[in-house]
Amino acid sequence: MARLEVPATIAMAQRARALRGRGEEVLSLALGEPDFPTPAGVIEAAHRAALDGQTKYPPVEGTPALKAAIIRKFARENGLTYEPSEIMVSNGGKQVIFNAFMATLNPGDEVIVPSPYWVSYPLIISLFGGVPVFVDCPEDTGFRLGAAALEAAITPRTKWLVLNFPNNPTGATTTRADLEAIAEVLRRHPQVHVLSDEIYEHLVYDGKTHVSIAQVAPDLKPRVLTLNGVSKAYAMTGWRVGYVGGPAWLIRAMGSIQGSSTSGICSISQAASVAALDGPPGVVEVMRETYDRRRRMVVAALRQIPQLTCAMPQGAFYVYPGIAACIGRTSAGGRRLNTDEDFAIALLEEQHVAVVHGSAFGKGPYIRLSYATSDDILRDACGRIARFVAGLT
Ligand SMILES: Cc1ncc(COP(=O)(O)O)c(C=O)c1O
Repeated sequence: MARLEVPATIAMAQRARALRGRGEEVLSLALGEPDFPTPAGVIEAAHRAALDGQTKYPPVEGTPALKAAIIRKFARENGLTYEPSEIMVSNGGKQVIFNAFMATLNPGDEVIVPSPYWVSYPLIISLFGGVPVFVDCPEDTGFRLGAAALEAAITPRTKWLVLNFPNNPTGATTTRADLEAIAEVLRRHPQVHVLSDEIYEHLVYDGKTHVSIAQVAPDLKPRVLTLNGVSKAYAMTGWRVGYVGGPAWLIRAMGSIQGSSTSGICSISQAASVAALDGPPGVVEVMRETYDRRRRMVVAALRQIPQLTCAMPQGAFYVYPGIAACIGRTSAGGRRLNTDEDFAIALLEEQHVAVVHGSAFGKGPYIRLSYATSDDILRDACGRIARFVAGLT
């Protein structure tokens, strides 16, 4: 347990909180949390559910009403057909990942994690004695996973491949052709299962549409877990509802784990999630358009800073600028920037802007900024980043 790290995203938020505790105003672009309120119709559904007496222990794997709404969602949006025995609701997408790896990993089993990656994957894999095997997704390919790099990383001990598109932290998306090439590799390695984390599915831009691997390669569906949740798309991070579709044998095993840990997920949150999934798509679209506008504003502002490089992300709500030209320099406050973590700490201490260093996601020297915050904060934060970089010597 002592070897388990605090995720860097949470560590940076804690630093920002400490600075705020000292009376400083801090602009936080560190956390991946929508700044929108949960849609009113969702909150009303929760209220009704509570008044209707939906306040008892729910079934471990999810209420029949939510499982039915999830089945409709997968059919409508992903062209995927699931039976109720192939669906499970968990305490956020994070518990889905925890259940899946606890159910399947033996010490020494390898899990391929394309890099950069969301910090929780390697932490959870390591918790169960698994070995994360990182595969580099280079910036010059749009941070996409190449089939040849995947093939080279697979060994007889590989049990899982994690796919996360749209991606946290880069905002990269994937294409049908990419997924077809990945599927072709996986067909040669029947021992490899796929955890496809599609939690940012609705947040794609520039006319892109999201594609699921189980849809592109239906023959692989029996070994794919398709993960999703209401946190990001519906601004429901605090309601703690994630869900997954996958083979019944694995869902059963994950249910056994959940039954002995948290049991079923908050009954009222589940009723709210039915309203979210069945609700009018316009609610998500308004948020998506706002993120899209902010994305273009932030990238344009960062591209004005000559020392930074900034790819245009096509999904999620993060930008991932490169800061190589700042490494080895000294900040106006006298801090030497040997790493991207030094950069993030100095930016926080000297300009009170919280971001997360890229090396925490497996790829430096970059920083990750979340634009799930107001236009004013984003404008102010980009100005401060520009001043910070201009002050480097
Ligand atoms: C890639 C990715 N997957 C899953 C999650 C988990 O979200 P939740 O547990 O709120 O459903 C997050 C949250 O930051 C994420 O970024």
